[in-house]
Amino acid sequence: PPYTIGVICGSIAASSINRRLARALMKLAPADLECSFIEIDQLALYDRDRDDAYPPEATAFKEAILAADGILIVTPEYNRSIPGALKNAIDWASRPYGENALTRKPVGVIGASPGGIGTAVGQQHLKTILSFCNAPMMNEIEAYVQYPDGLVDDDDEVTVASTKDFLSTYMQAYDDFVRRVLTVVPQQQA
Ligand code: FNR
Repeated sequence: PPYTIGVICGSIAASSINRRLARALMKLAPADLECSFIEIDQLALYDRDRDDAYPPEATAFKEAILAADGILIVTPEYNRSIPGALKNAIDWASRPYGENALTRKPVGVIGASPGGIGTAVGQQHLKTILSFCNAPMMNEIEAYVQYPDGLVDDDDEVTVASTKDFLSTYMQAYDDFVRRVLTVVPQQQA
């Protein structure tokens, strides 16, 4: 069946290379994945005093996660971890206690950096967080994208052929992973 995939970009910068990468991945995705962005920039700072009365934007964010068959997180590495905006969004998604929207939700993690480490350390931090949130993660293949200037053009096309091939393979593997997880454990709907 077609799967709906919520794509979360860990960077809220308009000029984000990870948003460019995310758009390119959405374009390279197999036809049975219907990908759309879930935005995190409108979320206030998480406050557990609001667990009993979530702000509407946080409720909408959680509902978007619940409605998606799978989540793809495309994130930069900030100071060898994940951006605060992304951690904040995950905190909202995970609460109140017992209503964690990420539980059993299949998640893919990928990211780009101009540097050679290609977000590897940040992705490891993210996987620790998602593991506590009980989200099954695609472990293989991994994708640490070193992003030279112009890697993704204004038409969301990957300009380096070998990288484009690799990213296509990544999206195919992600499709297979989501199908495997959903076949074994059908998800509860929101
Ligand atoms: C960075 N950058 C960075 N890069 C990296 O490979 N490892 C790191 O730990 C960090 N740390 C870091 C902290 C902060 C606060 C910023 C703003 C940047 C550089 C980063 O990879 C680069 O700015 C990317 O362009 C950020 O991704 P987006 O926002 O363009 O998607």
